[in-house]
Amino acid sequence: MLPGKPVAEAVLADLAPRIEALVAAGHRPGLGTILVGDDSASAGYIRMKQDKAAELGFTSPHIHLPQDATQADVLAAIAEMNEADDVHAVLMQHPTPPQIDFDAALLALDPDKDVDGLHPVNMGRLALGMPGPVPCTPAGIETLLAHYEIPIAGREVCILGRGTTLGRPLALLLSQKRPTANAAVTVVHTGVPNWADYTRRAEVVIAAAGVPGILQPEHLTAGVTVVGGGVRYEGRKLLPDVDEACEAVAGAITPRVGGVGPTTIAMLFKNAVEAAERRVGTGGR
Ligand SMILES: NC(=O)c1ccc[n+]([C@@H]2O[C@H](COP(=O)([O-])OP(=O)(O)OC[C@H]3O[C@@H](n4cnc5c(N)ncnc54)[C@H](OP(=O)(O)O)[C@@H]3O)[C@@H](O)[C@H]2O)c1
Repeated sequence: MLPGKPVAEAVLADLAPRIEALVAAGHRPGLGTILVGDDSASAGYIRMKQDKAAELGFTSPHIHLPQDATQADVLAAIAEMNEADDVHAVLMQHPTPPQIDFDAALLALDPDKDVDGLHPVNMGRLALGMPGPVPCTPAGIETLLAHYEIPIAGREVCILGRGTTLGRPLALLLSQKRPTANAAVTVVHTGVPNWADYTRRAEVVIAAAGVPGILQPEHLTAGVTVVGGGVRYEGRKLLPDVDEACEAVAGAITPRVGGVGPTTIAMLFKNAVEAAERRVGTGGR
């Protein structure tokens, strides 16, 4: 089993002295949050991140806009966060109400404060191997594999899904020329009806489809490493892409609950610390 919690703890332990150094230099890191509307799950996610921010010594200025907020209201909130000197990174909670164009709002965010690494400038930086915030779930998966010393350099990694939050940035990340990446990455999707031919020959399979139970034991070769990134929520119930039966075939596998999730949150704070370090000129990628 490859649980995410020890990985997240290691990442956060590494951040602690860096946060202390920022605070000592008079630059307490600030994670700004913007929530639009009354969705209770979204409010819960924001609260959880604010609690973690406080625990780590961050400030977390928050803007909560009403359910009927306009695009102009959202852009004004983003402008406020962009201009605030004590805010180094900003989290815009997704999804937003239907009248809000999330992509347009994302474009208005200062790319250097984009803690999720999803701004087109940061996707471009990722594609070009330039420093900048990396999307949190892909970065967490690379860190998880490195933590458990599962080598991927030179090995066949197959990603099931090419979505913009997970599969596509993960493919860019794992194909970069670095010791913890450097993989032969294949990306499969609905345009590849025989996708199992690819997952079956891979040494590492990463599920990123958001289709409950899509990955079954017959899609895998014995001893493979399996990372479950894709999930769908039905109410509060979490339905993973990776069927439980895959555990019998895999050599190493993330648990159905507590796998990639904790690493995603840790990487969010890593991005925030690095944003603060870059701004005050003390390092960061
Ligand atoms: N654990 C976490 O912290 C975390 C964080 C972020 C995202 N996620 C999860 O990651 C998943 C992916 O998110 P995303 O936004 O990157 O992706 P997305 O936009 O939802 O795209 C899903 C991808 O899966 C492919 N796919 C769907 N059904 C398929 C099928 N039957 N056969 C083959 N391929 C199929 C799609 O192919 P096409 O492109 O051909 O349509 C698409 O590329 C979601 O479940 C999301 O909840 C988890």
